[in-house]
Amino acid sequence: MTDSQPTLDRYAVMGNPIAHSKSPFIHTQFAQQTGQAMQYEARLVSTQAGEFAKAVAAFQSAGGKGLNITIPFKQDAWRLADKRSQRAERAGAVNTLWFDERGQRLGDNTDGIGLVRDLINNHGGQIAGKRVLILGAGGAVHGVLETLLQAKPIQCVIANRTVSKAEILATSFNHFGQIIASTYASLAGQSFDLIINGTSASLHGQLPPLPAGLIMPDTWCYDMMYARTPTPFMQWAQSQGALQVLDGLGMLVEQAAESFYLWRGLKPNTAAVIQSVQQQLLNDNQPQSTTSPQTPIEIGGPPGLEPTRYGDWERKGRCIDF
Ligand SMILES: NC(=O)c1ccc[n+]([C@@H]2O[C@H](COP(=O)([O-])OP(=O)(O)OC[C@H]3O[C@@H](n4cnc5c(N)ncnc54)[C@H](OP(=O)(O)O)[C@@H]3O)[C@@H](O)[C@H]2O)c1
Repeated sequence: MTDSQPTLDRYAVMGNPIAHSKSPFIHTQFAQQTGQAMQYEARLVSTQAGEFAKAVAAFQSAGGKGLNITIPFKQDAWRLADKRSQRAERAGAVNTLWFDERGQRLGDNTDGIGLVRDLINNHGGQIAGKRVLILGAGGAVHGVLETLLQAKPIQCVIANRTVSKAEILATSFNHFGQIIASTYASLAGQSFDLIINGTSASLHGQLPPLPAGLIMPDTWCYDMMYARTPTPFMQWAQSQGALQVLDGLGMLVEQAAESFYLWRGLKPNTAAVIQSVQQQLLNDNQPQSTTSPQTPIEIGGPPGLEPTRYGDWERKGRCIDF
């Protein structure tokens, strides 16, 4: 017998693009904190038909323990899961996969928990009894709605450019609370306690067409996107006098913490990790190649984190991971 190295449990995040992903850094911190012998890597998967299913099958048959799934594969992951949590079932998307002893694929969606924990636990915000406006009706909003409504807002309005998508969501989730769909124009004359931007407009340096007057002196604003510098939505919220303006970095770390808990049964300390990711974002200012292969991070093995790599978003001062 020559192999005295402990076996590391293997995890990964799969997506396209993936070079920007902070998940390897976050899970490395969690594992170090909790003393878990695991390896976590970022894997770029082709968007050609069938490639995601092949990549998951190959990872599983090589002994991989669990996966985070990011854009654009969350719906594919939902389809691949043999069993899904109820919240993932209703979200229509899976961001966490793991495998049981019979090889069945289990799927969950931790994005809603990530958002609500960040707002309430990390920032002392309130959702219960509040009037909430959600901008957008894409995958992210679909993924968080159930958990958000379970936090008992008095009313939830979903506004989307394509209002039919907001209407579908409002109908699908109306048994969780009072939820109505709206166009942006018909928000005029209304105001809200909490406004959550779940659109991808900030990614393109844009702002949804929001009428004036939505923000009161005690309104909180939350952009699910995060960036090195305030997003257009955050800048707008500040200019309108919002009391609190937050980005989605805490949500990212909190959803990762819930995935980690599903895999390892341990809850990491997220506050310290949010701080280090913030620090890492601030340090991320030298564009690098996006073409080099992703190097797995070994926790418990030789030190050395994956060098940060930058894609187009990062060159524009933005960083995404969802
Ligand atoms: N922090 C986290 O952990 C986390 C997790 C998940 C998602 N996110 C963030 O959530 C955002 C949305 O992601 P997604 O997966 O839901 O994307 P998606 O499925 O592609 O949906 C995009 C949404 O944005 C709307 N939109 C795009 N550009 C717009 C514009 N210029 N003006 C108004 N509306 C616009 C779309 O409206 P139409 O329907 O009319 O096209 C749609 O509702 C991203 O910024 C992502 O960073 C963050």
